[in-house]
Amino acid sequence: MEIIIQPDSRQASQIAARIVARLVREKPHAVLGMATGKTPLQLYRDLVLMHRESGLDFGGITSFNLDEYVGTPPAHPSSLHSYMWAHLFSHINMPRERINIPDGLTADIPAACRKYEQAVRSAGGIDVQILGIGTNGHIGYNEPSSSLSSRTRIKTLTEESRLDAAAAFGGEEGVPTHVITMGLGTIMESKMCLLLAFGKKKARAVALTVEGPVTAMVPGSILQMHPRAILVLDKDAASELKMADYYTWVHDHKPDWQKY
Ligand code: GLP
Repeated sequence: MEIIIQPDSRQASQIAARIVARLVREKPHAVLGMATGKTPLQLYRDLVLMHRESGLDFGGITSFNLDEYVGTPPAHPSSLHSYMWAHLFSHINMPRERINIPDGLTADIPAACRKYEQAVRSAGGIDVQILGIGTNGHIGYNEPSSSLSSRTRIKTLTEESRLDAAAAFGGEEGVPTHVITMGLGTIMESKMCLLLAFGKKKARAVALTVEGPVTAMVPGSILQMHPRAILVLDKDAASELKMADYYTWVHDHKPDWQKY
């Protein structure tokens, strides 16, 4: 794992944006895996700015989102569809037909999940999967106890995740109980995983993900098995890492050709 610790979330997001932008420039038909939540907001703002100011071209890019709430119409203000259009897709030139987000209203969830997996494969696989992390260590919506080789499927949210999402749904009672999420096996097939985490609230999940054992009880820990997992953290999210000084030293002494 590559651990990059930055003084704040702004600078951390800048590094993540440079990684994504480099891929988009080098591979105009790249496939991006998108995440939602508060964490990637600055990354998306930076990408929109790069599109506007330096013509970063998303015209050939395909995207797959990690998850969507079951029973939530795409037009619902708290759907993950709405989030993506509000914060990214309305502001860049990614063609609508190349945007893929699980359908929370599908009548046949298993069939829709199989189709989603097939679509990822047909697109050639995900080049960079952007990830946040839940306070309980979930990635996508793979809650603790998720199979480490799971595929896109329906999951039941934990109490903790429903509480974390409560503000967006006007209170915990409004938060859907189920989601469709890419599995840990799906995420692990991405060529690169780029996980962002900011704030003290994430420090424990980050420490367990990086320095704890690989366990289904901390789904993010499966990234230890990924050949190219980059974690971009602010100081607070890194505050419980035992080897933080070493990670910082490694980053500061990268040869020029390895820098972002
Ligand atoms: C959500 C999403 C994750 C996200 C995480 C953290 O529930 N399913 O993809 O990374 O929880 O959210 P936030 O970035 O708002 O802290």
